[in-house]
Amino acid sequence: MRELQAYIRKEGQVLSEQVLKVNSFLNHQVDPNLVMDIGKTIAERYKDAGITKIVTIEASGIHIAFAAALSLGVPFLYAKKSKAITQSNEVYAASVYSFTRQQTYQITISKEFLASGDKVLIVDDILAEGAGVRGLGEIIQAAGCELVGVSVVIEKSFQNGRKMLDDAGVPVYALARIASMSPEKGIEFITEEPI
Ligand code: G4P
Ligand code: NA
Ligand code: NA
Repeated sequence: MRELQAYIRKEGQVLSEQVLKVNSFLNHQVDPNLVMDIGKTIAERYKDAGITKIVTIEASGIHIAFAAALSLGVPFLYAKKSKAITQSNEVYAASVYSFTRQQTYQITISKEFLASGDKVLIVDDILAEGAGVRGLGEIIQAAGCELVGVSVVIEKSFQNGRKMLDDAGVPVYALARIASMSPEKGIEFITEEPI
């Protein structure tokens, strides 16, 4: 998705070498046409992979998952975030440490919506440290599902999430990969992949 890079350059705000603000089109205000194109692009990549369910985390993964799920013709499921550690036999739970917010929260998914035969694609808006994706991976494993891959709109390749997934042998499809960025020089994308 070449136009996504142009879109990010135009609309994104590089706040620092670590933080890219995308709240005018991706994670606060949302451009529905862009998100539907993102969904189609993700679906195109996975159309022959036998995906039975897309999984994300509330909140900013939901519209991306919706668009991809609509294009693939499968349901999507979003993990809920909660502060309280509620013991329950009805849900799978995982702890997620948010580097950005410097706090740990729990994510939960009802057991009834993940079956052992499911082939799952994780979708999210931004891959940074990969803490959220790691938590989802734990739940998917606990449910006995197959994790087919992880697809994100923006990967900040200089942070640890991508390496963690590469090391774990999980295929990653990122629509825009940021090698580096700074308020002065702007954004440098990784473009060696035909995306
Ligand atoms: P992770 O998402 O890869 O686990 O990494 P991290 O723990 O560093 O990120 C925590 C939250 O911060 C995530 O939102 C992530 O999307 C967001 N984040 C990380 N880097 C950036 C960035 O450069 N720009 C923006 N806009 N957000 C960033 P979340 O927990 O999924 O929250 P929500 O947005 O879904 O509510
Ligand atoms: Na997110
Ligand atoms: Na986010």
